Amino acid sequence: MIAPPNVEEIEDVTFEAELTLKRLWPRVSPLWACPETASAQQKSQQREFEERLRSSWPRLFHLLFQLYGTRYDFFFHLEEVLRTAAQAWIDRSAELRHTDESRTYEDDWFQSEHMAGGALYVDLFSENLGKLRESIDYFKKLGVTYLHLMPLFAVRPGNNDGGYAISNYRSIDPRLGTIEDLRTLADELHAADISLVLDFVFNHTADDHYWAQQAQAGDREFQQYYYIFKDRTKPDQYERTLREIFPTVRRGNFTWHDGMQRWVWTTFNSFQWDLNYRNPAVFRAMLEEMLFLANTGVDILRLDAVAFIWKQMGTSCENLPQAHLLIQAYNAVTRIVCPGMVFKSEAIVAPNDVLTYISPNECQLSYNPTLMALLWESLATREVKLLNRSLAYRHKIPEGTAWVNYLRCHDDIGWTFEDSDAAAVGINAYDHRQFLNKFYTGQFPNSFARGVPFQYNPDTGDMRISGTMASLAGLEQAFAEDDEHLKDLAVRRILLLHGITLSIGGIPLLYMGEEWGLLNDYDFVKDPAKAGDTRWIHRPKMKWDYLEELENADTNGGSIRTKLFTAIRQLIKLRKETPAFAGQSMELISSNNPHVLAFARVSNAERVIVFGNFSEDPQILPGNVLRTSGLGRFFEDAISGKTIGTSEDTQLAPYQVVWLTRV
Ligand code: GLC
Ligand code: GLC
Repeated sequence: MIAPPNVEEIEDVTFEAELTLKRLWPRVSPLWACPETASAQQKSQQREFEERLRSSWPRLFHLLFQLYGTRYDFFFHLEEVLRTAAQAWIDRSAELRHTDESRTYEDDWFQSEHMAGGALYVDLFSENLGKLRESIDYFKKLGVTYLHLMPLFAVRPGNNDGGYAISNYRSIDPRLGTIEDLRTLADELHAADISLVLDFVFNHTADDHYWAQQAQAGDREFQQYYYIFKDRTKPDQYERTLREIFPTVRRGNFTWHDGMQRWVWTTFNSFQWDLNYRNPAVFRAMLEEMLFLANTGVDILRLDAVAFIWKQMGTSCENLPQAHLLIQAYNAVTRIVCPGMVFKSEAIVAPNDVLTYISPNECQLSYNPTLMALLWESLATREVKLLNRSLAYRHKIPEGTAWVNYLRCHDDIGWTFEDSDAAAVGINAYDHRQFLNKFYTGQFPNSFARGVPFQYNPDTGDMRISGTMASLAGLEQAFAEDDEHLKDLAVRRILLLHGITLSIGGIPLLYMGEEWGLLNDYDFVKDPAKAGDTRWIHRPKMKWDYLEELENADTNGGSIRTKLFTAIRQLIKLRKETPAFAGQSMELISSNNPHVLAFARVSNAERVIVFGNFSEDPQILPGNVLRTSGLGRFFEDAISGKTIGTSEDTQLAPYQVVWLTRV
């Protein structure tokens, strides 16, 4: 652990917090209607705020004190934080307050087996927000109850990193619509029982954000919003211990700005300027942006690039203790202002580091990059030993939190597993990552995958993989060779992976288009703003013809696309009918077979046993393993509808996944 920046612990935090609140309260109370004229409703709203404030304030105060307590201007910023929170509460709509209230009684709402997510780019899926509203029926048909819209805010012209280079957090990219459109969509989604998920891109702004523009114009106050250096001295010192995230964009983590004649910290693209959270003004300013977003109707806020938000010389500047304090401080404010909203962590880092962001007081939800990477690893090797090992040691998360289990997203696949797990099962981590990169770029003999490299780093040999779910699982190859057997295997692989993410515990998340097996889009290179970033290969436009095909399926007999859609929709439906799939508890079962992943889900007095065969050969499922793990003699597989007895061994077909319940 690295100690917080020279802060002397105060002795009695609760006392100091209360004293501070007593002093600050008169400064915020004028925000409320004066007691004589306030309506009964206004009074009760104020009371509600005060109650929540009193219960979360000591925690918030302590967190901010640890981060900023040594600053001469701490008290000023604290007052601003409090004022920002109060104003956001005043601005919050009655509907959202109602959700806040109901979720305080049902704070495990996101643990339900009814949750099933989808993520999409508004422009690629439906052109704009208005048209997206017409797709609500489509989401219902598929069973999606959580919708992540990729960043849709005003962005810089040209390359904007798929929306992650934001120039204004309060306005929507005019090509997609307006803030009013977003609010209307949020209302309609809520009416359809679909949660809205948006990004909080808080590690950096675009280089044309107002703050960055002011900094460029020489305003020192705004220069302190970023990490700006007059020469290479400090950048060079930092660089000694930093990773490179986008080495093919630019070497190192700093970008020279001609206008300012200064170096700027840019972890990602050169036009994404890292915010300086050592400055409490940045914490406060971004808080205002966060609460503005919350008030548009967000249920789940995806915290982008959490690992990078605090920097300290001599460290990797990733996953630092202060990064956690910062997120916890934002979490504490949400408990006061918008307790119906939860955080989802986007920490695409080593498995043990991913876990550190997950807590009811920090991020209640987290992407599960380890499961994602290891499911692909198991498909490549046809063996589940590394996956099993990792699940045994790094899957369990605290009460009140949940994984978001996905197979593909808008980003690349990095081979994140703990090297020690690999060693424990006899795998050399470095060689294995080289193998996986070869396999998923189709360079390994007999590989079925058609991925492409992302961010190859010649110094370290490091590389990540781009490609759609279907192209990585063999469908692109099968179509190219027009081989029915290969098509069948690809479909089986896709359904196997979904069969696991839908059952293993947490919120399953589809990257929309997966339900149709969309293939790589090689045309991204035609757009100069996208050509340099292979992640665009797996961000194809939605192909609505497939939906028409489905609707005409009776007449044309049902294509691969129709089959996939129907099967995925059915899996989602079955998940929702299986109460044991709620929550997180998962027990691994030893299948005695290197190709078969096995686990039990137990919840609400129900027990479901899942077996997944990761090889293209049939595998024996010993009756005895099933009897002892399932505690029964006869089982029904929800997916195939077949009954299985345990007096004899059963066979799992190539890539078959079964969800077994005792009958
Ligand atoms: C996140 C996003 C990724 C983006 C990066 C910088 O990791 O998922 O797409 O490039 O942050 O914002
Ligand atoms: C790195 C970052 C992650 C980001 C990704 C984009 O893995 O850790 O936040 O999504 O790069 O490629």
